[in-house]
Amino acid sequence: MIEEVKKHLKKVNDFETENLSDLELFRIEYLGKKGVLNKFFTSFRNVSIDYKKEFGKELNILKNAVTEKIKHLKGVLNSNNEEGVNGDLFRPGLDFDSGSRHPLSIVKNRIISIFSQIGFNLSDGPEIEDDWHNFSALNLPEHHPARDMQDTFFIQTNPDILLRTHTSSVQVRYMENNEPPIRILSPGRVFRNEAISSRSHCIFHQVEGLYINKEVSFADLKQTLEYFTKALFGKSIIRLRPSYFPFTEPSAEVDIYWGLETEIDRRITKGTGWLEIMGCGMVDPNVLINCGIDPEKYSGYAFGMGIERIAMLLYQINDIRMFFENDLRFLKQFKSSI
Ligand code: PHE
Repeated sequence: MIEEVKKHLKKVNDFETENLSDLELFRIEYLGKKGVLNKFFTSFRNVSIDYKKEFGKELNILKNAVTEKIKHLKGVLNSNNEEGVNGDLFRPGLDFDSGSRHPLSIVKNRIISIFSQIGFNLSDGPEIEDDWHNFSALNLPEHHPARDMQDTFFIQTNPDILLRTHTSSVQVRYMENNEPPIRILSPGRVFRNEAISSRSHCIFHQVEGLYINKEVSFADLKQTLEYFTKALFGKSIIRLRPSYFPFTEPSAEVDIYWGLETEIDRRITKGTGWLEIMGCGMVDPNVLINCGIDPEKYSGYAFGMGIERIAMLLYQINDIRMFFENDLRFLKQFKSSI
């Protein structure tokens, strides 16, 4: 009988198949209720004790060979059928969710790319600032009433360390460390102590620009603004309204003519057709002196805008809080803008 078991062992070891149904037949032949192994085990009970030892050993070898064979062939056949180089090369690929860029990043990148085409480089600075870089160097001395326009969060007082209220602080740092000509763009997060509403938030983002060279004039500023508004909005009718910033003289607010064609136009322009989009002006000589630049030799212009405000206009978003809520239903709408 041992001879018979050995014959089967050889047969099992030699067994190969390319399909799962043959493998199933093989399994039934050996492991089924009336299969080869069960038959051997039944006769095992009736053999003499001396013979049992040898016979049992061979029987176990056969049983292991059968289960190993089935396991091995199953693995090979399944991997051929479902994946791997022998699988169906025409199956549709696996779906995966690509996510989307945040609308503020999309708009920021657009602004950066428009200004980089006319030679502006990026410049970065800390969000936690000292009083000098955020206020004093910018012609906003202590107790000056203009500081009220930009109340912020103080991390420490005396000396004052605070969360920057604008990225003009980056421009101060850059001017202190570089010689003109200077042509920089500073995008970044800023903070103000403001009540949160649909129009304002205590955290928002800005892009500010600074150009300093010999004989820079207001005409240069205006030309740059026209180029920028046309590139971003496709509309280039702008007007400059006299305004006040401590760090620029003269200062202006930039309005873009939006039109009054639809009900939405009427609503967002408050019935005037004009939309305020940024502040600008010629850098005050005092600021240049504070930063170690000779105002007799150099002049320059600066401008600054809120990215949220621009994004709200471009995408017709009517609540600034949407940008910070991380609601996927909102964020998913910007997939196509990448
Ligand atoms: N720093 C100003 C603000 O945050 C914006 C500005 C920049 C205005 C440069 C004029 C010139 O409100």
